[in-house]
Amino acid sequence: MTSTLGSKDSEQNSSSTYRGYAGLPPLVGLETMEGALKKGLTVAESVARLKRFHWALKRLHGIFVARIASTPMYELKMAFGMHAHYCAEHVGEFAKRVREMRQPPYDLEVCPDTSLDQFFDEILSAPGIEALVLGLYQQAIPAVTSALSRMITDTHKLFDHPSYRICRLTLVEMEDVLRYGEQAIECLVSESEHASLADWLSSQQRLLASAGGLDGTQMQTGESIQRVFSAVPYRYDGVPQRDERFKDPYNMGVNAEAMLFNPEIEPLPKSIMLYFKRMREIDVPEVMSSILAETSAKPWEYTRDMTRQLWDEARHAMMGEIGFISLGIDWTTIPLNFTWSLGMNTQLTAKDRHAVLFTIEQGLMPKKNGKENEWEIAVATEDPLAKCIQDYDWADEILHARIGRDWLVPELGSQMEALAYGDKAWSRILVDWSKWREDGLTEHRNWWPDAYRQACRHWGIEPAPSLLAYNMTYENTRADLKQVAG
Ligand SMILES: [Fe+2]
Ligand SMILES: [Fe+2]
Repeated sequence: MTSTLGSKDSEQNSSSTYRGYAGLPPLVGLETMEGALKKGLTVAESVARLKRFHWALKRLHGIFVARIASTPMYELKMAFGMHAHYCAEHVGEFAKRVREMRQPPYDLEVCPDTSLDQFFDEILSAPGIEALVLGLYQQAIPAVTSALSRMITDTHKLFDHPSYRICRLTLVEMEDVLRYGEQAIECLVSESEHASLADWLSSQQRLLASAGGLDGTQMQTGESIQRVFSAVPYRYDGVPQRDERFKDPYNMGVNAEAMLFNPEIEPLPKSIMLYFKRMREIDVPEVMSSILAETSAKPWEYTRDMTRQLWDEARHAMMGEIGFISLGIDWTTIPLNFTWSLGMNTQLTAKDRHAVLFTIEQGLMPKKNGKENEWEIAVATEDPLAKCIQDYDWADEILHARIGRDWLVPELGSQMEALAYGDKAWSRILVDWSKWREDGLTEHRNWWPDAYRQACRHWGIEPAPSLLAYNMTYENTRADLKQVAG
C-alpha cells in the first residue's frame, strides 16, 4: 500500500493540495487524490477476498439457521434469526460482485480453504450454548469484521467501488452482530465455562492461522489440526427447545381466534389475543429454520427470501412481547404453545413443512378472518401500538404469501396443487388435544382470566364478568392449527 502509480508535484497541482472546481471534493469525496494514487488490490486479489467473505457468511448463515430450533433461550433464538438474515443478504451481494469480476470459474460453491471450513464445522457442531456463542461471537464474527476492515482499507475505493461499498455496508451490520454477541457471551458464559473451552478456542485460532486468516491475507501456517466437536459429522436437530420461562408448552386451552373474530366481544380485550398470537409465532422461525437446514440444491435467492421471512416471523414474535409489556402482562404466565413446530419439525419432510406454511399463509390473505381483519380489530381497540403492530404484520404477510408463490408453487405445479399438497401434509401431523391431557403433558389450563385481569389493572377498569368467563379451547379442531402460524 505504499507504492504509488504516479504523482504530479507541481506547486499548483500536487496530489496533497489538489482540489476540484471551487473547492469541490474531487473523486466524489470517496478518496483524496493523494490516497487515490496509492496502489489498491488487483482484481484477482479482490476476488480472492470476496470469495472468502462469501464463503464465511454462507457458513455463518448455515450455523445460525441450524441452531435456531434447538436453542432454548428466546432472545438468542430471535437474534440468530436476525444474524442469519444479515448473512443471507450479504452472501447474495458478494456472489453478485464476484460474478462481475471476470475471474471464472467463480467456484462459489467450492470451499476456498479446508482449514477455514473446519473452523466453521467446529462451531456448527459446538455441543452447548457456551461453545456456540464463543465460537460465533468471540471468534468467527471478529474474524469477519477485521477482514472486512482490512479490505476497506486495502482496496481502491474508486476502482473497486462496488466491492468497497458491499464490504462497508456488511461491516456496519456485522459490527452490530458483534456487539450483541459480546453481550450474549457476558450473559451466558461463566468464567469457568470459558476456561474449560480454552483448548478448543485456541485450536480454533490455529485453524484460522492455518487458513491464512479468514480472508487469506496472512501467511498460511498450513498446520493440520485435529477435529474436536466435528470429529463426528454434524446432524441437524430440529426439535424445538424453549427456556424455562416457557411453561406448559402443550397447552391449547384458550382459543384466540374464537374471541378475536367474535363480533359480540368488544375490541379492547382482543388486543391481548392479538399479542398472544404474535408472540406465539416463535414457532415459525423454528419451522422455517428447519426447512432451510434440511433443503439443499436451491439457488441462494431462495435461501435469502426464506431467511428474510424467518426474520420477519421472529419480529412478529417480538411485536407480541412488546404488546404484552405495554399492557403490564407478564407473558411468562401465558403458555406459548410449541406443538406446531414440534409436529412440523419431527413428523414432516422439509418440502411438506414449506407446503403447510404456504397453505396457512394463503389462508391469511382473505379479508374475513385474515390479516386485514386483525388490523381492523387493532384499529378498533384504539390502542396505537396494537394498530401499528398489526399494520406491519399485515404488510409482512403479503410478502410471505408472495415468497411462497415464487418458490413453492413452481415446484408443486400450480397454486391449487400447492394448497392441496400443503393441506394433505398438514393432516398428517398428529395433534391429540385429549391425549396430551391424559398423558399429563398439559391440563390445557385456561390462562385467559388471569391475563385479562392483569390488562384490566393496566387499563384501570373492572374486568367484565362475561369476559372473565371466556372458556373456549382448541379441542377437536384442526382449523385452530390454521391460526397457529403466520
Ligand atoms: Fe408472522
Ligand atoms: Fe408470515
